[in-house]
Amino acid sequence: MKKIIIGNFKMNSTVSEFKSYAMSLATKTKGTKNTVVVCPPYTHLTTAKEFLSGSKVFVGAQNIADAESGAYTGEISAKMVKDAGANYVIIGHSDRRNKFKETDKLINRKIKTALANGLKVVLCVGESLQTRMEKQEAAFVRKQIDDDLKGIYENELESVVIAYEPIWAISTNRTEKTKAITARDINKMIEIIRKEIEAQYSQKASKNITILYGGSVNLNNYKKILGNENVDGAIIGGACLDVDNFAMIARETY
Ligand code: PGA
Repeated sequence: MKKIIIGNFKMNSTVSEFKSYAMSLATKTKGTKNTVVVCPPYTHLTTAKEFLSGSKVFVGAQNIADAESGAYTGEISAKMVKDAGANYVIIGHSDRRNKFKETDKLINRKIKTALANGLKVVLCVGESLQTRMEKQEAAFVRKQIDDDLKGIYENELESVVIAYEPIWAISTNRTEKTKAITARDINKMIEIIRKEIEAQYSQKASKNITILYGGSVNLNNYKKILGNENVDGAIIGGACLDVDNFAMIARETY
């Protein structure tokens, strides 16, 4: 089964380091049947385009502004990232929601701007450990989906991928603070998301929507996570920084 494998660089690497990474990734993913997307920092996008064009790897941005242009010092628009070579954009990552206080309203505007500029959206949703301990995760994620996709038409969902990234499971491979997520946890939430899409749109939309998992996917667990037929792909942070690791996950047949 063809999967979508997305690498989220977060705020890591220099342009010259990324150039070597991109050249290597292009070679190492030649035969893959999966859709591979790498999301470096903004400053690396033109380099990504240059060294990945003609390869199997698509380029994505990690964020965009909600506005199209104007007096927004320090911001980068959807049109700019598209022009620089991005086809995808991650919107609503928990780093943005928590560290930069992005609200669902803002995320909704960003999604609309991205779609209007021909970008494919990777919408991240997911609950905190506290929300899960209070057993509120289903209601929480449902509300994120409803608020973030407000006013998005069913035909536009073709350009939207949803990534379930429970905050408590992100980067745990390096801190070991929380227990590992189980296939059961993942399947349960994917089911909840599909049901919500069905309630807001249609059965067809629910069947067709692409739902990824993200949170500490690494060389030890990727086969199990991506071998799950309910998981359409993965968003990978820490483990994507090593090109051999990322290419191995991207090359695999699932
Ligand atoms: P991680 O990050 O794979 O390092 O947990 C995933 C993400 O934050 O997108």
